[in-house]
Amino acid sequence: MKGIIVLASGRGSNFQALIDACKNNEIHGKITALITNNGEAQAIERAQKNNIPVFVTEPKNLLSQFKKLNPDLIVLAGYMKVLEKAFIDAFRNKIINIHPSLLPAFPGLNAQKQALDHGAQVSGCTVHFVDHGVDTGPIILQTTVPVFSHDTVDDLSARILEKEHITLVQAVKLFCDDKLVVQDRNVYIK
Ligand code: GRF
Repeated sequence: MKGIIVLASGRGSNFQALIDACKNNEIHGKITALITNNGEAQAIERAQKNNIPVFVTEPKNLLSQFKKLNPDLIVLAGYMKVLEKAFIDAFRNKIINIHPSLLPAFPGLNAQKQALDHGAQVSGCTVHFVDHGVDTGPIILQTTVPVFSHDTVDDLSARILEKEHITLVQAVKLFCDDKLVVQDRNVYIK
């Protein structure tokens, strides 16, 4: 059983999807902590309801904290801070991020608005390993959704979010079952 630490800064609906999937044994893992940079994050309540320890930590203190906690997997689930290079190097191919666009299109903030402004007709979500760039790491899974001409940012965000929950759970499940092999930029599923 893999030990998973989730980093989240806000609402935590992706975190909730992981909690539920661990509870019902869809993911063979245990969430051992929630780490947040935001003491007001709704994710904290979700952790407390499920007896998951919570730490409010500044990004610069993450490395020393994680060396002690030593998780098998780190999931960024709406974590809005950039990680230090040394942290990423210490957990190479063990940090997974969920992003609300089809990368490499629309990295960074407000991905859904970027897709609408660009006139994209398809968008979606990407789960990827974290490397030194912003949303540039090896892609594990992607799911597409249509973009409609009358969509608002909220419409598109809600349509993508539903797929994020499913796609993130699938990717974490594959990781915990040792099914992911990373070779350069490519992630293979065994
Ligand atoms: C999601 O859209 C995620 O892709 C992005 O931030 C949002 C977080 O939502 N990085 P939640 O906190 O998981 O509900």
